[in-house]
Amino acid sequence: MDQQGMKELAGSGAVDALVKSGMKLGLGTGSTAIHVTRRIGALMAEGKLRGIRAFATSFQTVLECEKWGIPLYSLNAPELGGVLDLCIDGADEIDTENRLVKGGGGALLMEKLAAYASAAYAMVVDESKLVEQLGLKFPVPVEVIPEARLTVSLELEKLGAEVFLREAVRKAGPVITEHGNILLDIRFKERIDPAGLEAELNHIPGVVENGFFTRIRPTVFTGRSDGTLEIRK
Ligand code: 5RP
Repeated sequence: MDQQGMKELAGSGAVDALVKSGMKLGLGTGSTAIHVTRRIGALMAEGKLRGIRAFATSFQTVLECEKWGIPLYSLNAPELGGVLDLCIDGADEIDTENRLVKGGGGALLMEKLAAYASAAYAMVVDESKLVEQLGLKFPVPVEVIPEARLTVSLELEKLGAEVFLREAVRKAGPVITEHGNILLDIRFKERIDPAGLEAELNHIPGVVENGFFTRIRPTVFTGRSDGTLEIRK
């Protein structure tokens, strides 16, 4: 099975296993999580899912929900009341303890908000996302207010990180997030403490959020190249 197939298998499998009518859902971002939204939309169209209320973690997800007619709300809306039953999202890396690096699509701020607001959390990935150690292969995004670009970069370097300003594609200059910030992608050469760093990075003035997700452990749905779906709690 190719990578697209693995992503679709994971996304559809998680929806079939976990999503029930009437749920308040957090819908993630990216090329794997989009299969979650599509599967929910298709089940709604067939009349097999009813009463879904959703929070979209990015503009990409909003657009996909609009295509399928999935009702969207602000987390502050009375229909959601700041809490979700279930959030399903993709990841850039997942370690053996189900801790994550996220934010490859630049949506980490809303993704973390949805994850931590949710009673249950699930990840949908293809097998390439499973790693022994976080932060060594895929860079960890740090969302920063633009004025803090240099001061935060210096602090990150003191922590042993290499720092790269995320550049936009088909637009000159940096990526600007949906919240008007920039992204510093950081990479470490040595073993790190992801839980410690998740807290420490957010204490640097000017940092809005970072891509370590260590305090909530998801159920992980992995599409495998042999065509099987692995579920790991
Ligand atoms: C977006 C994310 C994505 O979930 C993550 O980058 C994985 O994306 P993909 O499934 O396309 O590999 O965190 O901010």
